[in-house]
Amino acid sequence: MRFPPSFIDEVKARLPVSEVVGRRVKLKRAGREFKGLSPFQQEKTPSFTVNDQKQFYHDFSTGKHGNIFDFVMETEGVSFPEAVERLASMAGLPLPRNSREEEQREQRQKSLFEVMDLATKFFEQNLASRDGAQARGYLSDRAIAASSIVEFRIGYAAADRFALKEYLGAKGIPVEDMIEAGLLIAGDDIPVPYDRFRDRIIIPIHDQRGRVIGFGGRALKKDVQPKYLNSPETSIFHKGSIVFNFHRARQPAHEANSVVAVEGYMDAIAVYQAGIKAVVATMGTAFTEEQIATLWRLSPEPVVCFDSDRAGIAAANRSVDRILPLLRVGKTFRFVFMDEQKDPDDLIREKGVEAFRSVLSGSLPLWDVLWHRETDGQDVRTPDRQAALEQKLYALVRTIQDQAVNTAFFRTSRMQLANLFWQVNRRPARNYKEADSRLNPKLKFDGEGQRSGLQKTVLGMLVQYPDLLEDKRDAVLRLQFPDLFDQFLSHLFQLLVTEAKLSVSVIWDKLGEEFYDVLQTVHGKAGAGKERGHRLFERFPILSRDPPPDFVSDCLDHFIKILHWHELEDDIQRARLDAGQGDESAVARLLCLVREGHAEQESISAEGVTLSERAEDIIRIWAPQSGTMHLAA
Ligand code: UTP
Ligand code: MN
Repeated sequence: MRFPPSFIDEVKARLPVSEVVGRRVKLKRAGREFKGLSPFQQEKTPSFTVNDQKQFYHDFSTGKHGNIFDFVMETEGVSFPEAVERLASMAGLPLPRNSREEEQREQRQKSLFEVMDLATKFFEQNLASRDGAQARGYLSDRAIAASSIVEFRIGYAAADRFALKEYLGAKGIPVEDMIEAGLLIAGDDIPVPYDRFRDRIIIPIHDQRGRVIGFGGRALKKDVQPKYLNSPETSIFHKGSIVFNFHRARQPAHEANSVVAVEGYMDAIAVYQAGIKAVVATMGTAFTEEQIATLWRLSPEPVVCFDSDRAGIAAANRSVDRILPLLRVGKTFRFVFMDEQKDPDDLIREKGVEAFRSVLSGSLPLWDVLWHRETDGQDVRTPDRQAALEQKLYALVRTIQDQAVNTAFFRTSRMQLANLFWQVNRRPARNYKEADSRLNPKLKFDGEGQRSGLQKTVLGMLVQYPDLLEDKRDAVLRLQFPDLFDQFLSHLFQLLVTEAKLSVSVIWDKLGEEFYDVLQTVHGKAGAGKERGHRLFERFPILSRDPPPDFVSDCLDHFIKILHWHELEDDIQRARLDAGQGDESAVARLLCLVREGHAEQESISAEGVTLSERAEDIIRIWAPQSGTMHLAA
C-alpha cells in the first residue's frame, strides 16, 4: 500500500523522535538534543543523539541516521509500510482510505489469505488424522519434532484428487478463489479442476507478517517427481521476494545480530529446531535482488550456506555476482560451504547442532569467495595472463555501486593481485633455472648465496676484463653492494680516470694494497701453481677457455640484470609492508614494482637460454674431441 506524503508528514509531526526512540532507548536531555546509548551496538558512553526539531536521530558509533520510520525499520526489522502502520496507530491516526480499486484488491487479497489459512488448517488436520499416519512416520524418520510440526504448521495433503476442493467448497469458498490461491490445477484443457497437492507433506510458506501465502509440498517417496511441488505465483505469493521462515527468524535475528540462510525448507526447520532460530531458507534458487534486500533486513551480514557440489558452488557464484552491485557500507554477506553432499539437516541429524555451528564459524567473507573463484587454478606466470586476470577482477569490482565499498574492493584487489604476481615472480620459471645451471654450474659456491656469488663474479669480471669497465660503469654503479665492495668499485672506476692504460696487472698494482682481500676473493692471486684470476674462473669456469669478448660482455650484462632483479625483490618486500599498512600510494607502487620485476624476470629467462646455448657452442669448438658438454669443475 502506498501512503500519500501528506500522511507521512502528519505522522512525523505528531510523533516526536524522542518519543518513538524513547520506547527503546533511555534518553537524557542535553541542550536541544537528547542523548543515549546506541541501540545499534554495545557501548558504555552515549554516542546516540536525537533531535526533535530536525526530526532525526544520529548514532555516532555506527553512523546510522534517520527519522522515526527508519528507526522502527532498523530496530524492529519491519518494512516501510509496516513501520508507517505501527507509527500511525501510535499517533492515533487512522490509515488513509485507498482508491476503490486498491481497496477491492486488498479485499481480494484478504480473502485469499483466508483461503490459504483454511487450507493450512485442513492439511494440519489431515496430518493428525488416520490418513496422515504414513506422513507422520516420514516426519518422525526425519527427526522433526512434534513441536516443530505445530510451530511450522506442517500438514499433509491426502492422495485424493478432490479432498481440499471439497473441504473448502463446504466452507463456502468459490472455486475461482481456490484457483487464484494456487490450490487447484485448472486450465482450458482441464474440465474439472482438482487439488494441486496430493500425497505430499505440506510446508506452509508465510509472508513477513506471518500469513500463509503458499505451500511447499514434499513427496513422501523417493521416486516421485518433483521432490518439492510449490505453489505457483499468485497475487499474494511472489517467490522471488520471499525467504522461507522470515517472520519467525526476525526477532531472533535482531537479537543475535545475525542470520543463517540455508537452501531447503527442511534445512531451515532442522536448524530452527536445533535452537538456531535466526534461520531462513532461500528455497533452492540463486538469490534475487529482493531476497538480498530481505536478508539484509534481518542482519547486516547474513551467512549463506551452500552445498559444496557443483550446483551449490554455481549457486554461490551466481549469488556473489548478484550481491556485488548491491553492497553498501556495513551490508555484506558471508558464505559457508557444506561438506560432501551433507546439507545442514543431514549434518545436524548425524553429528548434532555443534557440528553445524562449527561449520558456520568457518564462514568466508564475500571477497574471499570472489577472489578464489577468479584466481584458483589460474596460471598467471605471464604478463598477458596477469593483465587478463586483473581486467576480469576489476570488471567485477566495477559493478559495485557504492563508492566507498567500491574503493575498498579496488584497493584489496590491487593489493592481492600484487601479492599473487609477486609470489609467481619469486618462483623463477623452470627454464630460467635450467638455463642458469647449464650456463654456469659453479655459480653457487658452498655456503655462498646466489646473489653474493653473482656480486663477486661481476667484480671479478670487471678486474679480468678492464676493457668492459667504461661500458658497464653506469649499470654497475646502479647496483647495491656491501660497503667494502662499494669502496672497491669506486676505486676501480677511479682508475679509468687516473690510468692511461688499464690492465689486470695495473689493477692489482694500484689496488692490491688497500683491497688485497677483495681482489683475492673476487679474482684470485697468482701463486702456488694457480694462475691469476683463478677464483673467478672457479666461479665461472667458461672464462678460463677464453670465450669471445661479446659473450663475456653479454654474460656480465646478464649477471648485472639478475642482481638488479634481486634488488627489485627487496623493494617489493618493503612496498608490501607499506601497502599492508593501508598506504594507498604504496599499493600502486607495489603493483608497478611487481610488474617490472616480472618483465625483468622474463627477459632474464630468455637471455639465460640464449647464453647457455652460446656457452655450449663455445665448449664444442674449444674441445671438439672430448665431446664435453658440461663445464668441468
Ligand atoms: P534440495 O534438493 O537440496 O532438497 O532442495 P532438500 O532441502 O535437501 O530436501 P530434502 O532434505 O531431500 O527433503 C533445496 C530446496 O530447493 C527447493 C526446495 O525449496 C528445497 O527445500 N526445491 C528442490 C524445489 O522447489 N523443488 C524441487 O523439486 C527440489
Ligand atoms: Mn536435505
